[in-house]
Amino acid sequence: MSANRPAAVVVLAAGEGTRMKSKTPKVLHEIAGRSLVGHVVSAARELQPEQLVVVVGHAREQVEAHLGTQYAGTRTAFQAEQNGTGHAVRMGLEELGGEPDGTVIVVCGDTPLLTGGTLAALAGTHAADGNAVTVLSAQVPDATGYGRIVRDPASGAVTAIVEHKDATEEQRAVREINSGVFAFDGALLADALGKVRTDNSQGEEYLTDVLSILREAGHRVGASVAGDHREILGINNRVQLAEARRLLNERLLERAMLAGVTVVDPASVLVDATVTFDQDAVVHPGTQLLGATHVGEGAEVGPNTRLRDTAVGAGARVDNTVAESAEIGEGASVGPFAYLRPGTRLGVKSKIGTYVETKNAVIGEGTKVPHLSYVGDATIGEYSNIGAASVFVNYDGEAKHHTTIGSHCKTGSDNMFVAPVTVGDGAYTAAGSVITKDVPAGALAVARGQQRNIDGWVARKRPGSAAAQAAAAAAGEAS
Ligand code: UD1
Ligand code: MG
Repeated sequence: MSANRPAAVVVLAAGEGTRMKSKTPKVLHEIAGRSLVGHVVSAARELQPEQLVVVVGHAREQVEAHLGTQYAGTRTAFQAEQNGTGHAVRMGLEELGGEPDGTVIVVCGDTPLLTGGTLAALAGTHAADGNAVTVLSAQVPDATGYGRIVRDPASGAVTAIVEHKDATEEQRAVREINSGVFAFDGALLADALGKVRTDNSQGEEYLTDVLSILREAGHRVGASVAGDHREILGINNRVQLAEARRLLNERLLERAMLAGVTVVDPASVLVDATVTFDQDAVVHPGTQLLGATHVGEGAEVGPNTRLRDTAVGAGARVDNTVAESAEIGEGASVGPFAYLRPGTRLGVKSKIGTYVETKNAVIGEGTKVPHLSYVGDATIGEYSNIGAASVFVNYDGEAKHHTTIGSHCKTGSDNMFVAPVTVGDGAYTAAGSVITKDVPAGALAVARGQQRNIDGWVARKRPGSAAAQAAAAAAGEAS
């Protein structure tokens, strides 16, 4: 791609996006783990431009703060009033210090499906044809609202772009539209922007007018027709937002499948653009894979599982589980019905079973927490077994405390580990124990009331009851 490395990319993101009907600026709406503008910046970065600038205006602080945290180092230009796309590009070039020497790519901040590959192809066509401007166009089923590409009837050469609102009936019948993405010669762009007028139906400086200005000055102008019109879908409302989400999801899953991932039912799986897989991973129905999640080789996730920022080791099995910022070791087994919260790190071949919640818990190789337990703020060694219905009592009402359990321990069912507390290697604890004191290695801890049986209590206190009759019958059988 570096062969056609552009001098600059200008991303237009100053508009409000009124049709979103939202307090959130349009370009900050999210799909597939990135903001709309984030998708565009990511695609633009693939071109490795010498400079990249995002033109911001509406909700400037919010958009700049987002770019600053998610796309550090991104420059912004300020367009105080939204006087049109041409004016916006002018503000962008001013920020870059005037006339970039080389190709300038302009993209809109609301086209999240656009790929780096398509931008590179546009830059390639632009250079190969020696154009002053090349517009990325597309044939669409419904061109309503878009600028139309006007071609010379005889030669087929592009002559102008006419906005829908300014178009004649004949022009409105054209289905080849302006995607809003362009490659320009930087110097010619800067010069032509100075000549753009505002005598149109919206009283704005149209970037699209640059095309006819350059053509009339005798420069070469061209169009590169996108192979798939869906890629240039611009988001103006939430119906289009959901549509773009679906298309992007299909694309991401298709890429994963072609790389050797089994997706049993793509229609019921949601995946973020930032998720990665190794070969032979399997995704079962009803699963959402979000953020920086990674699914390792041969691991199976789902059904009905939501993983965010979670690493699943090779060969692990994760069933009906919700996990966030967790690490699941190779060959580990999680669920069904487990909840792994941030800071959970499960060792190789460990097991977190049914109705188990973990948080800030490091669990060693081969260790099992099979049933109905809460493990919070804990370190457990290797090959230990935590009995059913155990609670790591980490909170005293003011502060969180840590529990440490060694390796090869067997703790009884229904234990409370009242932190801070430590159980040594190889120790056992009795069922029903409330462990408040450290247990030495190899000891058995018993921490519960002694059992007392009061003979004949039912016959005396519940005479004639079904329980008393059953007890009497049992006594008869015994004698
Ligand atoms: C624009 C194009 C149209 C094209 C369509 C593709 C013009 C005049 N029209 O129309 O030919 O078919 O995109 O989706 O260029 N923006 C600013 N500052 C402004 C105005 C807009 O930054 O002053 C930004 C918006 O935030 C948006 C982009 O530019 O990201 C496009 O603006 P929008 O108002 O959506 O233009 P369209 O009317 O859709
Ligand atoms: Mg638009």
